[in-house]
Amino acid sequence: MVDFTLTDEQKNLRELAHDFAEKEIRPVAWEYDKDGTWPEDVFRKAHEVGLMNTHVPEAYGGPELSYLDGCLIEEELSWGCSGITTSLGANGLASAPVILAGSEEIKKRYLGMLVEELTYASFCLTEPGAGSDVSSMRTRAVRKGDKYVINGQKCFITNGTYADWYTVYAKTDPDAGHRGISAFVVPRDETVVIDKKEDKMGQRASNTATVTFNDTEIPADHILGEENQGFKIAMMTLDRTRPGVAAMATGIARAALEYATAYSKERVQFGVPIAMHQAIQFMIADMATKVHLSRLATWQSAVLLDNGMGNTIESSHAKRFAADSAMEVTTDAVQVYGGYGFIKEYPVEKLMRDAKIMQLYEGTSQIQRLVIARETLLPRRVEQPQAAATA
Ligand code: CAA
Repeated sequence: MVDFTLTDEQKNLRELAHDFAEKEIRPVAWEYDKDGTWPEDVFRKAHEVGLMNTHVPEAYGGPELSYLDGCLIEEELSWGCSGITTSLGANGLASAPVILAGSEEIKKRYLGMLVEELTYASFCLTEPGAGSDVSSMRTRAVRKGDKYVINGQKCFITNGTYADWYTVYAKTDPDAGHRGISAFVVPRDETVVIDKKEDKMGQRASNTATVTFNDTEIPADHILGEENQGFKIAMMTLDRTRPGVAAMATGIARAALEYATAYSKERVQFGVPIAMHQAIQFMIADMATKVHLSRLATWQSAVLLDNGMGNTIESSHAKRFAADSAMEVTTDAVQVYGGYGFIKEYPVEKLMRDAKIMQLYEGTSQIQRLVIARETLLPRRVEQPQAAATA
């Protein structure tokens, strides 16, 4: 049976996240956007009320929420501010590979750290020369006795400046293409250098930095899974986290729709509120349809995971559609506001800037289409091991 009814627990969770977004995020979101400063206070409160690390299994002290639960939370928080939500949710992305492939000892130590107190972790995949084409990465990990030594540079790393540990992908067999990549947990030490905090168009409250590993030594048992399994671990991670990004895009689009709807009822032109004009009504209708379909695709891609099934194509459908829709809906919201929409004093300008990254990070809209095309032409349903969500 297909049933979109949320349980009472899920409704409560959504309400908790919405209240948090309304009281703790929205009132400060525009200030943090302007300054591009780090909203530590917001994260501290989110950690206290249990809105961070929601994916961590109970065995390691977390609440082990489902993927759908994670998406409910992310839509609400992102409705408040997607920049703050990106940083707030980044622990989920960094720790998904640990949950998937880490040893018991590593899970206890590093997932436990995130739950116990407010600490941060970052996912280090992208490099200056290796974005969409993951397997062309150049970071190296060389085994020396009971250690690995890591050298290389990762860029566009969410929370890179503040992370206490990093999930790092590096070549262990440089001649083997995607089959020569391994994944590691790397605790921060003095050999990890934060080179650059990016000054971004949108999501300015989230931290994005370049992280360089200079002869960084880690114990050999900090590898995730077997040597040279890293590419698949990365792909399985992204299958798990793309529904959350789609949920965030839905939250941005919903916020834009709400602002545009309210404004269209107030703004009078040609003697009536502009909402009375069919030109505006049709824009509002298309915006509402996009929000609705984004949410449906997001929920389905999450529920498949919750049921232990593969969701590669569905998470790409959801991420691609919701991201492109967020860009379209926020652009239309600016249009509904007319000239005022272009002014920073009004809320939709920020939403349009924030929406752009949705089409870029965790796989561009073009990469999602590539995955969708491949899975359509040559279907390959990967059964996923049951694991917790990544909000
Ligand atoms: N699950 C399990 N295995 C998978 C898989 C999946 N979803 N997708 C691919 N694989 C396996 C394939 O079966 C294949 O296995 P074999 O070695 O047995 O043949 C192997 O992985 C290689 O697959 P492909 O041939 O499809 O690999 P490719 O090099 O053509 O790349 C790609 C595919 C989809 C383009 C991939 O590189 C990709 O997703 N690129 C986008 C990267 C991305 O999303 N980066 C985001 C960085 S994180 C971020 O943005 C967050 C932040 O902090 C800002």
